[in-house]
Amino acid sequence: MSEIRVERLSKRFNETAALDAVSLRFTAGSFTALLGPSGCGKTTMLRLIAGFEAPSEGRVLFGEELMADPRRQVPPEARGVGVVFQSYALWPHMDVAANVAYPLKARHVERSAIAGRVGAVLDIVGLDGFESRRIEELSGGQRQRVALARCLVADARIILFDEPLANLDMHLRASMVDAFRDIHRRTGATIVYVTHDQAEALALADRVAVMSQGKVLQAAPPQEVYRAPANATIAGFVGRGSIVAGMVMDPAEKTATVDIAGHRLIARSAGASAGPAKILLRPEALRISPEGMPATVLDSIYRGPVHEVRLALSAPGQELLIDSADALAIGQQVHVAVADAWIIPDT
Ligand SMILES: Nc1ncnc2c1ncn2[C@@H]1O[C@H](COP(=O)(O)OP(=O)(O)OP(=O)(O)O)[C@@H](O)[C@H]1O
Ligand SMILES: [Mg+2]
Repeated sequence: MSEIRVERLSKRFNETAALDAVSLRFTAGSFTALLGPSGCGKTTMLRLIAGFEAPSEGRVLFGEELMADPRRQVPPEARGVGVVFQSYALWPHMDVAANVAYPLKARHVERSAIAGRVGAVLDIVGLDGFESRRIEELSGGQRQRVALARCLVADARIILFDEPLANLDMHLRASMVDAFRDIHRRTGATIVYVTHDQAEALALADRVAVMSQGKVLQAAPPQEVYRAPANATIAGFVGRGSIVAGMVMDPAEKTATVDIAGHRLIARSAGASAGPAKILLRPEALRISPEGMPATVLDSIYRGPVHEVRLALSAPGQELLIDSADALAIGQQVHVAVADAWIIPDT
């Protein structure tokens, strides 16, 4: 019952295809992050799963049970789905405890049991002691955590999050990421989690679905999306790195020799054929070394623990991004050793 399936799901608003024939299965107890640029259809997908929007085409199922197709929709309140949206709909005139207790009261849970459960979820979201504060007296981040607590208290088997950490500062985000992992472990709920923040997506989810213009480009474990992106859009969107032009020389099944700006190296591949290709080089796989690809320093910026260095290869227009412990001088000639490279399949 807590498995979600969307089949050829489309949603059009006038001329816009917000969602375009997406098929995706969210297995029971899985944690999927939807990642993608603004306007790619993430919120629309959640609204269709929750039942706030009807499909133009396709179907939504929970297990074998039909929740929605273009003609029939199970209403949101009958789906048993917990939702925390971008705009957290709280009751401003009620206090924190009353807001959080609402789903329990609606289900006629016994009064004596309510306070304990409300206290427990407020503790999880770090709002212990805020029970009698009014919503109007809270910061944006605190309101967001009340919305999260209200969702958790209902014990839903399916929980949808739409950028639940968007209004929180970096420190709080980090501790909330831990809270989410904990929530997932404890509840075993099927979670779909929308975020702009890829570090968050990679840290939390057991699967990342990268979306663009109403379509899902790749749905795979975080390591796979990062190390073996299916196309150049994903490679450019997920993580830092450089995409350079190369020539595939002698393709084998899983690796191939590639020539990048006259320098040869071994790259991972998903069955690339000989000829020109785009190669993804992540900064952590590159280092300045006595031997390797010759390059010239374009730029060196201090970014926290390391200097982010932009290098020009000998071929025109080809650039590399690397992390260096030391600052490098602009114009300096260096060599780059490559520990790992990925031939982007579909470019
Ligand atoms: N009610 C609506 N009426 C008309 N167009 C809409 C409506 N809701 C969404 N859209 C359009 O559908 C597309 C997808 O919107 P959606 O809200 O799903 O994007 P998103 O990926 O959640 O973006 P963001 O990251 O900015 O929240 C956008 O082009 C948006 O303008
Ligand atoms: Mg959105």
